Amino acid sequence: MAEDLIISKGDKKAQYESILPQIEGLLDGESNLIANLGNIAAALKEQFNWFWVGFYWVHEDELVLGPFQGPVACTRIKKGRGVCGTAWEKETTIIVEDVEKFPGHIACSSLSKSEIVVPIFKAGEMIGLLDVDSSDLSHFDSIDRVYLEKIMALIP
Ligand code: SME
Repeated sequence: MAEDLIISKGDKKAQYESILPQIEGLLDGESNLIANLGNIAAALKEQFNWFWVGFYWVHEDELVLGPFQGPVACTRIKKGRGVCGTAWEKETTIIVEDVEKFPGHIACSSLSKSEIVVPIFKAGEMIGLLDVDSSDLSHFDSIDRVYLEKIMALIP
């Protein structure tokens, strides 16, 4: 496996089309979850340079912070709390155009303005989620949803 990423300078769709097979390559033959989550977060950060990108994992009745890229973040989130806890409760992707307008949003940083949270399923059960924060308002749309859901489905 080559460790260098090729970074696309195209539009958002082109950037996802470029990074998706590279992430597939990074995961190929590696079954260790922490290694894979770490590389996915790093690859997405390198391509998109989002403010924060990382994982929260289901542990009993809480989400616990996993591998991520960006500033330090809160470590535990209860079901139904914030964007992450709501995505866990509803088991669905949530796009927030303005985090200040999301009731109960957990502000790990005042620089975060918009957010997307994508659940990760294994054998039909939600086991964790990807959380991405942008310092721009309304940064995420259905293109992010489609491709990030595809990338999350690659996690073995
Ligand atoms: N904003 C999230 C908390 C996690 S941080 O953004 C990394 C939320 O409301 O669930």
